[in-house]
Amino acid sequence: MHKGLLEFHEYVKDLSTSDVVMQMDDYIQHGDITTLEHVIAVSYTSFILAKKWNADVCTTVRGAMLHDLYLYDWHIKDPATRPPLTHGFTHPAKAAENAQLYFEPSEKEIKIIRSHMWPLTFLHIPLSKEALIVTLADKYCATNETLGIYDESHFRKKVKTYLIYIKKLRAAQNKENR
Ligand SMILES: [Fe+2]
Ligand SMILES: [Fe+2]
Repeated sequence: MHKGLLEFHEYVKDLSTSDVVMQMDDYIQHGDITTLEHVIAVSYTSFILAKKWNADVCTTVRGAMLHDLYLYDWHIKDPATRPPLTHGFTHPAKAAENAQLYFEPSEKEIKIIRSHMWPLTFLHIPLSKEALIVTLADKYCATNETLGIYDESHFRKKVKTYLIYIKKLRAAQNKENR
């Protein structure tokens, strides 16, 4: 695997090979892109920016990996469980709640998750360099995904390579545990 991807993997491997994070592969984010593929794209973009801008790489990529851990399909409008138009406003809180339920994120990582939709969630401002990186990376990736720029890109191939890699690791872990 690409050297950059291997370095990236070292920061997130406990998260990216967990059952909970894997669940994000069951939900579509944009087009044919699952939420898991999206968070890997955001996390890897954040990894590159964090290194470039001398931020805390570990905190940045781990916060990014968990930023959309809301675990439902936001396209299904189910008024019984969730008002359909509020997903953009409410999912950072849900993702932070799940992150705390299943992992042990630091205060700074929780703040990254809570502020990634800013300015939509205007009270949760990305105050750290790390949070600012993730909110920028998320908007950049979401725009590329929505406009189809991401579809055939070299970057998507890289993300897909990592996706296949962690799925293989997860399968091997499951086999071992059987
Ligand atoms: Fe989000
Ligand atoms: Fe996102």
